[in-house]
Amino acid sequence: MINPFYGRDIISIRDFSKLDLEYLFKMSDNIQKLSPMKLKELASGKLLGTLFFEPSTRTRLSFEAAMQSIGGGTVSIIEARTSSIEKGENLNDTIRTVESYVDILVLRHHMEGAARFAAQIAEKPVINGGSGIEEHPTQAMLDIYTILKERGRITNLKIAVIGDLKYGRTVYSLLYGLAHFNPKIFLVSPPDLKVRDEALIDLEEKVKFSLHENIEEIIEEVDAIYVTRIQKERLPDPLEYEKVKGSYVIDNKLLSKGRDDLIILHPLPRTTEIRPEVDKTPNAKYFIQAHYGKIVRAALISLMLNEKN
Ligand code: NCD
Repeated sequence: MINPFYGRDIISIRDFSKLDLEYLFKMSDNIQKLSPMKLKELASGKLLGTLFFEPSTRTRLSFEAAMQSIGGGTVSIIEARTSSIEKGENLNDTIRTVESYVDILVLRHHMEGAARFAAQIAEKPVINGGSGIEEHPTQAMLDIYTILKERGRITNLKIAVIGDLKYGRTVYSLLYGLAHFNPKIFLVSPPDLKVRDEALIDLEEKVKFSLHENIEEIIEEVDAIYVTRIQKERLPDPLEYEKVKGSYVIDNKLLSKGRDDLIILHPLPRTTEIRPEVDKTPNAKYFIQAHYGKIVRAALISLMLNEKN
């Protein structure tokens, strides 16, 4: 199969097929077997530019750690969203400037469409590191890789996605990515935070799902639970947050009702939705998920840079 990532922009998970994702997962397996010397050759002499106009810990650091692990270098802008970058023209100039220094750009921006816009103006490949409430495709790639590694397969699983399904961009990328693998999805959220209607209509054609308000209804059935944080900063009104905060919590009591081999994922950061006591259980996979993030991102960068691998 021809490398489907070579020179490509990574803007939406919907731009990639099941075979493409499987290709990335194979590469993710393969790079873990390389000697440190061979690994460092994958991006030797190349630079990754990370432009983050929204807060981030894992995404930016794991991209930078990933790039360095395969022998490349990184340069970064971390700027508050109060800057004049909000104006389209200025983002244009920033992108045009930074792309002249680097080989790949990673952009995180609070506006939907920002990553697609950057990809249109940049000649170098652009990776969407999170675009408003829209998408976060590399997060979905690592989420699905975590499911593969921690459950042994992706196909035909029962997966609950719980929390802020309205504003959580990781949810959208995950649902569209999982749709290739014939899952049964349980969407669990307070009524005010259910998946946006336009996506529900679209997903109806692609995936089997049902809507729930209470995790107890489905906990016994599921193979995996993907928990998300309420996106406080994206809610239009602080009163909305007061209404929904604390409306779902994963604790050991709840877990005892689930299957022994149930896995719990979370893109992180978490606030109150998973109690710390859960961290010690074998079901908790969110920190290893962050670890897989570095591997999948290293594999992805390598595929974007090297036609043959
Ligand atoms: C997520 C994001 O930024 O969308 N974080 C991440 O990249 N791991 C989830 C979140 O902020 O809740």
